Amino acid sequence: MSNLLQLQNQDWPEPIVRVQSLSQSGSFVLPPTYIKPPSERPCHNSLQTNEVGDIPLIDLSGFDDEALGGGISDAVGKACKEWGFFQVVNHGVSPRLMRAAKAAWREFFYSPQEVKEEYANSPNTYEGYGSRLGVKKGAVLDWSDYFFLHYRPHSLKDHKKWPAYPSSCREETEEYNRELVNLCGKIMKILSVTLGLGEKYLQECFGGEDIGACLRVNYYPKCPQPDLTLGISPHSDPGGITVLLPDDQVPGLQVRKGDSWVTVKPVSDAFIVNIGDQIQILSNGIYRSVEHRVIVNSGKERFSLAFFYNPRSDLLIQPSKLLVTPERPAMYQPMTFDEYRLYIRTRGPQGKAQILDSLKSTSNSTPPCNNMG
Ligand code: OGA
Ligand code: NI
Repeated sequence: MSNLLQLQNQDWPEPIVRVQSLSQSGSFVLPPTYIKPPSERPCHNSLQTNEVGDIPLIDLSGFDDEALGGGISDAVGKACKEWGFFQVVNHGVSPRLMRAAKAAWREFFYSPQEVKEEYANSPNTYEGYGSRLGVKKGAVLDWSDYFFLHYRPHSLKDHKKWPAYPSSCREETEEYNRELVNLCGKIMKILSVTLGLGEKYLQECFGGEDIGACLRVNYYPKCPQPDLTLGISPHSDPGGITVLLPDDQVPGLQVRKGDSWVTVKPVSDAFIVNIGDQIQILSNGIYRSVEHRVIVNSGKERFSLAFFYNPRSDLLIQPSKLLVTPERPAMYQPMTFDEYRLYIRTRGPQGKAQILDSLKSTSNSTPPCNNMG
């Protein structure tokens, strides 16, 4: 059976249990479904954060008048090659809106269970309230609940699928998403210029105005035994770029750097930006979509809003001709984002995916590759 048929015919392989309800049960032990094998636990082999430093912090305040020439582009290019991640401040999105969106979503997760269950999702589209990624029966699960919704293309946006409670949620989310599309447009220009492709090039590859965009709100409840599990397993993001509004009180996101996991220190009112697999493909491996994961803790819950900016889903994405040379042949075969994400939705987060490897058109060495959504 094809992946598509498998997904269309399928519901979750096991009854869904809300992580929030497990957390609230007050148990001091972690249910076995969430216990990772020792080699995948947070403490295994992790080195000290300060040995490798922090992800770069970039001030976008000069963006409009700088004509994309100088410091910002250089800093972004370096960050995309070395880390695949950076934080941005003075990004133009109002801190009021960032707080309001987060507050609305916190209220949604605090609302009665039956209110949330009206939005329970299925693996066909993942839209709505969910507690797992991937449909593999018997998989070890991650310690998080989430809400996933579409914003672009317009045809997939459906406010009725967004929470009606709290009453501000749809409006704040609409405004937040609109601002985030703008911000992603700016970041796309910077990435494009830095790759030597001209300001509009990457955006055109994504379909111009017809991009895809979705929001996933992640909720990581308090965990009785945080050393045995993860909030999200290692993965790279399958799409174009991700703009994450982290919890500014509680760290949790860890980024892979060589053999170590670097815990990102939240900066107030900043966003965390990372490169997804589609930009890795378009840039012919010059920019890297880097593996990351989330750790949880017993004392504090954590919320984050992950905004995914993606190519139009039926366009073939392949290494830009301008970045393919005899010395650097095309590293990936063309594939649409629709085809690509099907793999990830079927498999769930599994490190940086075999899928990028399987797309390789030569045996050239690139960074190892993984995914999810
Ligand atoms: C994601 C993700 C990180 C976080 O949603 O893809 O990596 O800190 N989230 O919640
Ligand atoms: Ni991610």
